[in-house]
Amino acid sequence: MTDYDDLFAETAPDESVFADKQALDPLQPPDTIRGRDEHQRQIAGMLNGVTEGYLPPTVTIHGPPGTGKTVTTRRVCQEFAARHDSVAVEYVNLKECRSIFSAAREIHLELTGETVEAYEGVDGAFTGIWEALADYPEWTVLILDEIDQIKQDANYDPSDFLYRLLRGEGKLKRDIQLSAWLISNELVEVDLRLDSRVESAMSDEAVFFGPYGHTELLTILSPRLERAFVEGACPEDVVKNGVSRAAHHWGDIRKTLTLFRHAGELANERGLDAVTVECLTESMELTEKDTTSEKLLSLPAQHFLVLLAAASLRDQRTGELAQPVTSGQLHDAYTQIASTDTQVGERARREILTDLETMGLINTWIDSRGSEGRVKQIETTFDPEWVSDVREQFIEETPGLSTEP
Ligand SMILES: Nc1ncnc2c1ncn2[C@@H]1O[C@H](COP(=O)(O)OP(=O)(O)O)[C@@H](O)[C@H]1O
Ligand SMILES: [Mg+2]
Repeated sequence: MTDYDDLFAETAPDESVFADKQALDPLQPPDTIRGRDEHQRQIAGMLNGVTEGYLPPTVTIHGPPGTGKTVTTRRVCQEFAARHDSVAVEYVNLKECRSIFSAAREIHLELTGETVEAYEGVDGAFTGIWEALADYPEWTVLILDEIDQIKQDANYDPSDFLYRLLRGEGKLKRDIQLSAWLISNELVEVDLRLDSRVESAMSDEAVFFGPYGHTELLTILSPRLERAFVEGACPEDVVKNGVSRAAHHWGDIRKTLTLFRHAGELANERGLDAVTVECLTESMELTEKDTTSEKLLSLPAQHFLVLLAAASLRDQRTGELAQPVTSGQLHDAYTQIASTDTQVGERARREILTDLETMGLINTWIDSRGSEGRVKQIETTFDPEWVSDVREQFIEETPGLSTEP
């Protein structure tokens, strides 16, 4: 029998390196935006247009994950709206929206507080959106975050959707200026394959958030580390080391925060009273594994199967996964792993390999092997064991996918 009183901690362990671990949670809103002065100025500059009677119909904001796009954009827009009665800001995250309808429903929900039913469809959502906007101030900034997530939809074209939103369909009874701010990791026009009609309805205003450098990471991180760790538990050389590596490898503040949290947890596990560089090194790997696993789990099924095939050949002697593998070996493994009715042809697999390489998950190259001719080699860019580690979970989360054991 399990004794839960033994299992659960009543108080924090005496020896923890953490004073307030929550400070390392990327979801915690920062007290202030640091190291993004130029970006804030650029955004404020566009908003200031209101005072001269102009807001761009669209603003695109893009850049890799963890570069402060969401937090900076929201903060500056909200601060502006707080100072101008004629301006409202609404924020909608489309991350979980798998269809255009669900995106329209989210926007509707944010503006009206009410849910549109499925039978009312995209049209019903738009009707409600225009009605709601009739009661809004003269200027509305509508921030649509992670808009690149809504690309796959069999029923509705993102172009049509954006076109309706931007043009207002002439449905507005009052003169209301809607400014749509589209945040994404990719360039929206390219990623959503927007047609020329929409592109001409969009303005050119764009803000790019590049990866954070050493200085910015340190500026954002310092106050959080100070709160998170007991005094002296995260020494300066460890901070310096971690920030340098994070800047070099990622430029991503979210990953950097996770890096230090993992490192602190490792220090606790080992009963150390301070984080060491060794803890950081191991934490780097853990952080990489976490983010790679997340990426793997979000792959389309066939991409995952091909990757699984590329990471399934074991060295007979050592028992370790062999890397690289040839395209012939990958083919054999694939036909063994994917059940006959799920297998795709060779050409589709070649395209998938190209995709996987673009995503940075594999490297491929051609070897000349004398009599055997030219052989394509494939290698994962991360520890190949990680693919098998998420295999079960992937299959569980993908209904209809069958693999051979
Ligand atoms: N310039 C910054 N100043 C302070 N905190 C920041 C900054 N950039 C990012 N953060 C912190 O990191 C988290 C992740 O940033 P976020 O804006 O969500 O990144 P992105 O949208 O580019 O993926 C934020 O919630 C915030 O806690
Ligand atoms: Mg974001």
